[in-house]
Amino acid sequence: MLDIHRILVQRLTLSWLAISLLIGGGLYWRGIERIDDRLVELASAEAARLAAAHIPLLKAPEANRQRLSEVAQDFLREHFIVVELYDRGHNLIAEAVHPDFEAIEERIKRQGHSFPQEETPYYERFSLEQQTVLLVVVPLRDERREIVGYFEGVFLIEPEVLQRLQDELVVSLLTTLATVLLTTLVIYPVVRGLHRDVVKFSRELLKGNIELMEVLGSAIAKRDSDTSVHNYRVAIYAVRLAEAAGLAAAPIRDLIAGAFLHDVGKIGIPDAILLKPARLDEDEFAIMRRHVALGVDILKKSAWLERARDVVEFHHEKFDGSGYLKGLKGEAIPLAARIFAIVDVFDALTSQRPYKAPMPLKEAMAIIEGSAGTHFDPVLVERFAAIVEPLYAEVSRASDAEVEALLRALIERYFFADGPTA
Ligand SMILES: [Fe+2]
Ligand SMILES: [Fe+2]
Repeated sequence: MLDIHRILVQRLTLSWLAISLLIGGGLYWRGIERIDDRLVELASAEAARLAAAHIPLLKAPEANRQRLSEVAQDFLREHFIVVELYDRGHNLIAEAVHPDFEAIEERIKRQGHSFPQEETPYYERFSLEQQTVLLVVVPLRDERREIVGYFEGVFLIEPEVLQRLQDELVVSLLTTLATVLLTTLVIYPVVRGLHRDVVKFSRELLKGNIELMEVLGSAIAKRDSDTSVHNYRVAIYAVRLAEAAGLAAAPIRDLIAGAFLHDVGKIGIPDAILLKPARLDEDEFAIMRRHVALGVDILKKSAWLERARDVVEFHHEKFDGSGYLKGLKGEAIPLAARIFAIVDVFDALTSQRPYKAPMPLKEAMAIIEGSAGTHFDPVLVERFAAIVEPLYAEVSRASDAEVEALLRALIERYFFADGPTA
């Protein structure tokens, strides 16, 4: 079963972090911007006031240096820690620095700044040691809206203001956290419930698919002299051999489907050949061989049944290349088909048919082992020989119903125990 609980908690936690950072960061940034806007507005207003009151001074800066210095000095009493006045040629004509902030003034000077020509004032925020300052440059205009000089002001953003912003940030982060947590608590059971429904639904779907596979398998068994129990037994043998060969769950699921459907193509073989009680002649055998291609064709109708394809398409290939349809050799034959070939022949030998008694285990294994390397993969034959005794004892002693129950247990384990992954 997918650990839906862990996945949900992980994803919701990640979402929480992302949302908190986004909202918290956004609020902080907006807060700082609002302060900037306020200070820039203030600087513009001051500049406008200054321009209006002192246009004659600004127009003849050389003659009025002393007076302009006093004007600059006046501003320090209000909000600024540095004030500079420039003429229209960008030459500094007056400057006032608050005595407590000379160091800051030095630092800012090194940064330089530009002189805005448009309506929007130039501004920049600096973080210097513990302090944050805002530098604003505003053009000064005369009554004809022509630039007569520039006003530069530096504000100190009060540490308390920054502190307040940071506090707001913490509060907003905590609020977001709480909100997302609450939402999570509400969403979590809803998602769990939906997931349970989906799991239930896909189990039913899977059950339907498995039933379809069994129905198809037994439909052909009804025509052939085999019974469905042959399909069940070869599926059990195939799974056990696959386990002994170290196959993972997914290929074992495909092998089970292959065991059910291996001869599904026989549905298209005429009765005269399929049910002929005597040996087939060359032409009849050629027709019989078509059951492989017919089977592949039938599987194409369903993506789910296609998983059986390796077995259906290659179960009559032989390890030495003398099999059909393709005459594949050795490991070119898919592993599932190499496994299946052994157990299919083994079950045919050891089971009772209308025309023959079951062959004893020893004799059957002598035939299988005698064909290792020619018909069968010798490594797999060795693996099979190692497990066959108790396995055959268990299966051959079981009634048809018990065989079916054994297979049900394997289907449950491989298709359902890990959740409906198939
Ligand atoms: Fe076959
Ligand atoms: Fe078979």
